[in-house]
Amino acid sequence: MTIVLLGYMASGKSSVSKLLGTELKLPVLDLDDYIEMKEEKTIPEIFESKGEIYFRMKEHTYLKEILETKKSMIVSLGGGTPCYANNMNLIHEYTKQTFYLQTSIPEIINRVKDEKAKRPLIRIISDEDLPEFIGKHLFERNSFYQQATYSILTDKKTIESLVEEIKAQLN
Ligand code: S3P
Repeated sequence: MTIVLLGYMASGKSSVSKLLGTELKLPVLDLDDYIEMKEEKTIPEIFESKGEIYFRMKEHTYLKEILETKKSMIVSLGGGTPCYANNMNLIHEYTKQTFYLQTSIPEIINRVKDEKAKRPLIRIISDEDLPEFIGKHLFERNSFYQQATYSILTDKKTIESLVEEIKAQLN
């Protein structure tokens, strides 16, 4: 069984996938970590030195590489992964167990504002401009995120309760 978690930056993908992995006794693969390991650079370094298009190409290549192993695992995507290179269709060729962790704009702003530095797409956005940027960005990305089989609202929920919700949907 391959389970894929997706959602905007700071929607809780990494924390939820770790606990889900522990509970289901499945390995967890974080696509951003995998890209960093393969490229021997951090994500901000890749954006900085090679640019976003290069990053998106690699993101697609490594996602494919991971899915092709057909191993049982939980894959935590990067926030933009579903929105490029037909990645949602690719994922659904391998598994229908896809979960969108849906987080509201105010909640995302709260979570990202103190850790902008590690997020290349928002590091240059001022705190003042963040609500408008995130609002527009989520609007553009929504149709991709909505392709997930399940949507799970995350606001004001604990990691434990999100994991329970996901487990209840698994078949
Ligand atoms: C991105 C989100 C990041 C990372 C990269 C691009 C995005 O992942 O893949 O900085 O386009 O939203 P997280 O969602 O894990 O922060």
